[in-house]
Amino acid sequence: MKRNPALAGVLIGVLLLALAASGCISGGSKEKVLVVGTSADFPPFEYKNTTNGQITGFDIELITMIAKKIGYDRVEIKDMDFDSLIPSLQAGKIDVAIAGMTITDERKKVVDFSDPYWEADQAVIVRKDSSITVTSVDDLKGKVIGVEKGTTGAEYVKKHLGSNVTLKEYPGYVEALQALLNGQVDVVVLDSPVANMFVQKYGVKIVYTIQTGEHYGIAVRKGNTELLNKINSALKTIKNSPDWNKLVAKYFGG
Ligand code: ARG
Repeated sequence: MKRNPALAGVLIGVLLLALAASGCISGGSKEKVLVVGTSADFPPFEYKNTTNGQITGFDIELITMIAKKIGYDRVEIKDMDFDSLIPSLQAGKIDVAIAGMTITDERKKVVDFSDPYWEADQAVIVRKDSSITVTSVDDLKGKVIGVEKGTTGAEYVKKHLGSNVTLKEYPGYVEALQALLNGQVDVVVLDSPVANMFVQKYGVKIVYTIQTGEHYGIAVRKGNTELLNKINSALKTIKNSPDWNKLVAKYFGG
């Protein structure tokens, strides 16, 4: 058989490409990256650092610590609207979602959650100069209420107040807060730990807290038990270590 140098060259090229794609060359093993979805409008859990635009926060540091413990080289953060997180998980665009996400029965039908790592209720916030007082959920009747789309706060208002209120759903809390400050909505209903942060940073106050007793969990694709088990054991280790207290102190003071 006669050698064909051109063909041999092509074959070698194809072989090299295949090797590169499989991660066997380019100096060692392929980098292991955990693709993390979040919604960076939720301080102190996830937010954009105002000086460098980097996404940071309690959740981001927690998932980075977990990822290291379970053998990933780094995390890649994908920021999106809160209500896109679960569809993105299902579509395989992200490996985990960490976004102060409440573990609910409804969500458990479509994703799996880690053990809980934080607790929250729903706070009712108004502008600092507002005369609105709230002593029960019924006092919200007739009000224009701003929420973040797809959240437990939004679901709560729909379920308990329904057509007795005007509900305005925003893609994120930045918009909801803006609407509150502009006077386009009377109140915003959102998670209590985040409301506490907004009170410190903006001209708003908390007038009522709805005791919803929520727990935050890290979501993975339904059936991804291997990853879930690893996350849970790393979470447990971290919670029992001084790292946890340091992380809490850093983002919640203390
Ligand atoms: N805990 C609420 C929920 O699960 C709100 C979460 C909003 N998170 C965010 N990063 N914007 O629905």
